[in-house]
Amino acid sequence: MLTAYDTPTAEVVDEAGIDVVLVGDSMGNATMGYDSTLPVTMEDVASRTGAVVRGVEDALVVADMPFLSFGVDEAESVRNAGELIKEAGADAVKIESGPHTVETTRRMVDVGIPVMAHVGLTPQHVNRLGGYGRQGTDRAAAETILELAREHEDAGAFSVVLEHVPANLAATITDELDVPTIGIGAGPDCDGQVLVITDVIGLGEWSPSFSAQFGDVRGEMARAVAEYKSAVEAGSFPADEHSHVEDAVDDVE
Ligand code: KIV
Repeated sequence: MLTAYDTPTAEVVDEAGIDVVLVGDSMGNATMGYDSTLPVTMEDVASRTGAVVRGVEDALVVADMPFLSFGVDEAESVRNAGELIKEAGADAVKIESGPHTVETTRRMVDVGIPVMAHVGLTPQHVNRLGGYGRQGTDRAAAETILELAREHEDAGAFSVVLEHVPANLAATITDELDVPTIGIGAGPDCDGQVLVITDVIGLGEWSPSFSAQFGDVRGEMARAVAEYKSAVEAGSFPADEHSHVEDAVDDVE
């Protein structure tokens, strides 16, 4: 699984054979200049989900439910999830899970909305957690995360994201659950892996320690932009092949 937030990126990810494209609320940090995911709105996720859906032929498209679009009121949560499926065209939604999302997950699944759960580090809880640190690092916390994953599987979640938890805990949860786990900062033993696209391609200025950069798109963009600027300043762009001349308008006064 990889994130995408726009059509051309979704096309590249889908053509590479990635199974799941996540329209993550990480769009807030990755593409919108926010320093957290908290300001991301339903409108942001819905419009970018539409853009991704238009670029994908094969992959499953999962729309991330943004902060406070779920969990406050159950009916509103289900309606918001439904909007991402019905209007934006997602195949499923992802919810940053907690004890309060078990019943919401069940309700969504009941009405026909596939739900991906997300346990461990849940960035929408940054203010309560006091940062983006590792989760499940002692026995009690690890048991709580395992239990939460089990409860969401029982509620009907079709998959569970495990974020920033010890690799051995992720391996245990993966063994315990029937549904696939997808890890980020959770070691190699999950059923699948996910990263944020801007980290993978090297577009962002910063990426978390558990991520890896497989390209230097920022460097390549900077080179192309600088070359364009030089060409315009030197008068070599636009050249004859980029322009057209009409004899009929030669003598316009
Ligand atoms: O928003 C996101 O991109 C995510 C993934 C990192 C799992 O939640």
